Amino acid sequence: MGRKKPRLLLAVETSCDETSAAVLEPGNILSNIILSQDEIHSPYGGVVPELASRQHIRSIDYVVGESLSQAGVSLEEIDLFAVTQGPGLIGSLLVGLTLTKGLAYYFRKPLIGVDHLQAHIEAAFLENPQIEFPVLALLVSGGHTSLYFLKRPLNYELLGKTRDDAAGEGLDKIAKFLGLGYPGGPIIEKLAEGGNSSRFHFSVPRLKTSGYDFSFSGLKTAALKIIKENNLNKEHPALSDFLASFEEIVVKSLLENLTRAMEKFEPRSLVLCGGVARNKRLRLRFSEIARQNQLPAYIPSPRLCTDNAGMVGALAWKKYQQTPDITLDLDLDAYPR
Ligand code: KG4
Ligand code: ZN
Repeated sequence: MGRKKPRLLLAVETSCDETSAAVLEPGNILSNIILSQDEIHSPYGGVVPELASRQHIRSIDYVVGESLSQAGVSLEEIDLFAVTQGPGLIGSLLVGLTLTKGLAYYFRKPLIGVDHLQAHIEAAFLENPQIEFPVLALLVSGGHTSLYFLKRPLNYELLGKTRDDAAGEGLDKIAKFLGLGYPGGPIIEKLAEGGNSSRFHFSVPRLKTSGYDFSFSGLKTAALKIIKENNLNKEHPALSDFLASFEEIVVKSLLENLTRAMEKFEPRSLVLCGGVARNKRLRLRFSEIARQNQLPAYIPSPRLCTDNAGMVGALAWKKYQQTPDITLDLDLDAYPR
């Protein structure tokens, strides 16, 4: 391994249906290329794992090449490699892992494995390095809905997670049922605009727990019941009101847990992250709650909320700075969950 201080890092993210590569200096993204597979999965209303891994294989060379050329650097100049290890789809993860392992081996450079969920949280730190600890972080994505407490940097205490569907998954499934397309979250957000969010009432059984776990399958069932009872479909005039009401209840359930945890853990900052954190209603309500509690709220800009290699690289830099003797571990493996 070279002795000079590393300057450039190449990060790769292929955990689900975005092929992404980024080049970073410490604390600064030089390029962050994201190639979405939405069009491929859209006809199925959700991600088809086998199609996702095949598409990563087709795209990865191009995406890495673009990230290097946009950053104006060559592969030989990269000092560190980083990759998402998990959680995610195993076949998809292996594409990024195999590629970066090969590159790190060939160039005799370290490879840093990164947790995808921790990387989502890091997106907030990347844009706001001044965030004060302790931090309460709400991660809302298509595969996960989790609440973390960070006493200090790189110290993740999982307070609660979903017991069934993730919030994004719930939005995607309702959109699929109504034939609206994939991914459901942004489509629902658009169609719900201007809708009356108090028109439909969802009777949802409360989770019997004193902890901070989430549950969205009851909400999904309640939503399906309303759809059937009111014969709602794509063209129905009440669709916008229904979607606004659904979005509102999803946001409310997410923030209930956050509020309870805030009282117990007394954080100094709040972070909202993950793909669903692009949602305007959620961003607004989250910021309102923070304001009411006189806490600063940090939400990554929309492009850094959904899956991207920039957040992976940012976390990798932090891990490297904490453990600079990190090397290439050829046993580094992918983990699905
Ligand atoms: O974090 P992410 O890119 O992938 C996972 O790690 O799962 O999140 C994808 C999820 C999808 O469920 C998608 O519907 C949701 O984020 N999403 C949104 C919005 N944009 C993406 N949900 C609500 N409103 C949005 N604007
Ligand atoms: Zn994600």
